[in-house]
Amino acid sequence: MKVLVVKNQKDADRQGVKIFRQAYKHGARTFGLATGGTPEGLYRELCQSDLDFRDCIAINLDEYVGLDGNHPQSYRYYMQSNLFNQKPFAETYLPDGMAPSAKVECTHYNWIIATNPIDLQILGIGQNGHIGFNEPGTPFTSTTHVVNLTSSTIKANSRYFKDESQVPTQALTQGIGNILQAKQILLMAFGPEKAQAVKEALTGKVTEDLPASVLQKHPHVTVLLDEAAAALLPSEWVAEHVQHIY
Ligand code: F6R
Repeated sequence: MKVLVVKNQKDADRQGVKIFRQAYKHGARTFGLATGGTPEGLYRELCQSDLDFRDCIAINLDEYVGLDGNHPQSYRYYMQSNLFNQKPFAETYLPDGMAPSAKVECTHYNWIIATNPIDLQILGIGQNGHIGFNEPGTPFTSTTHVVNLTSSTIKANSRYFKDESQVPTQALTQGIGNILQAKQILLMAFGPEKAQAVKEALTGKVTEDLPASVLQKHPHVTVLLDEAAAALLPSEWVAEHVQHIY
């Protein structure tokens, strides 16, 4: 695991573009993407870059159940407005939150991931250590499934909705087993509210109670943090594992 700490989110976004560029140069054409606040700046930088994704495939992690792609809070809408409209991809996939059968949709999404192996997966992390919508306790072997969102996740995501009652209570998400299949993973985390989860994920025990801790087991992970998100990492651990980029 490579851990890079930069001064602020802006520097991290630029660093993220470099990682995209490197991956593309080495043949990456299938990108696993996340939504939320964390990758917004990265997508902005990608939109302004000369990178061309017209021969690439994008496969997202998750989508709310019950929101269609025209709903401004759906992850399809987020991806279109933050990245795909400005930087078209050959194919883009998100789970279908309106699918009549969640079970069929999960099988279909697992098939999409299996037939288009992800070269570089972007991840954010929840304050409870979730990745995708895999909440604490999710088996590391899980594949695409429906989740009941925890109250802490609903609360965190309510900032995008009129109020907490508008936040869907379920989502479709790739499982941890799917995420681990990606050839390379880039986990990004910014701000003091992520510091505890980052510390536990990187330096704590690998446990299903802290989903992101499983990344310690993946052979090709880069973690990109700003100073605030890195603040609780023990100094001896930092000295041994962290590269500061200023
Ligand atoms: C979003 C996703 C989530 C977020 C996480 C952090 O597609 O999979 O795991 O990455 O909830 O969210 P933000 O970035 O909003 O802090």
